[in-house]
Amino acid sequence: MPEPITIATWPFGKLAVEVAMKALAKGEPALDAALAGAQAVEDDTTIRNSVGFGSLPDRLGRLTLDACLMDGRTLSCGAVACVEHIKHPAALARRVMEKTPHVLLVGEAAKWFALQQGFPLEVPYTAESIKEWLDAHPERKKKDDKKPTSADGASDININEFNHDTVTVLSLDKKGHLGGVCTTSGLAYKLPGRVGDSPIIGAGLYVDDLAGAAGATGVGEEIIRIGGSLFIAEQMRAGKSAQEACELACKRSNAAAGRRGVHPARVAFLALDPKGGVGAACTEKADFKYAVGRGDKIELLQAKEIGPKA
Ligand code: GLY
Repeated sequence: MPEPITIATWPFGKLAVEVAMKALAKGEPALDAALAGAQAVEDDTTIRNSVGFGSLPDRLGRLTLDACLMDGRTLSCGAVACVEHIKHPAALARRVMEKTPHVLLVGEAAKWFALQQGFPLEVPYTAESIKEWLDAHPERKKKDDKKPTSADGASDININEFNHDTVTVLSLDKKGHLGGVCTTSGLAYKLPGRVGDSPIIGAGLYVDDLAGAAGATGVGEEIIRIGGSLFIAEQMRAGKSAQEACELACKRSNAAAGRRGVHPARVAFLALDPKGGVGAACTEKADFKYAVGRGDKIELLQAKEIGPKA
């Protein structure tokens, strides 16, 4: 049986990895471990990123959250998108998976479902997040005048500067099963109603014990365009390593931008194969770091950058 392992996006993913590894050490299933890890990041409002309460809102100043999760053993999955006032969207996605015949619930209806399931309505803003939005708004408004609404406009957003982005957590448990969770508030200052890759199974996340687990972070429009996480899982199913598969996804994203005559967007991928092999890659200037936990050790690694000429 493989050694348990968890990988997660960005330096704040270390918190997710720590929590998930403790759960895996106790023999918990990969999906439970990944969810516990992702929820720890949702809970930490001091992390100035785009996950959970306290993170950067949309252009109207409203914080809406997206999340999904997938069980590699059964391909069971659930998701919520554009949900307000619910602190734990990944846990809500799990209820969609377990309590409904559906995969994805959105907006107000997702909130009603949350209330039915006993989730409390909570205030998603912190003093810091309100101040940050007020400080940033005039400048963003000027930029918006030039480039209003397109996905290509979104690709101008520097995810490091404005938006430290999604946490995606992938775990492999003691029994050799894979589980994954992805949770985010999406791109900072998005248009109200905009949903990125994170709650879209196959885009922000895909997990299959028979192929591997993959997740994404970065400009969601670009990740959706190439079905990034399913693409990586299918590459692993076809025999590519987790690393090769992530690099191929970056190349495909670069090529997709080239076909539209725009500069490649900042996207990043990570992958975990069923034997514990890890991969990660990002497009130019995405500067993607990810956390890897194996045994007692948790490391922060820099992903390989794949430029448009690669
Ligand atoms: N990758 C997060 C988003 O684009 O919403």
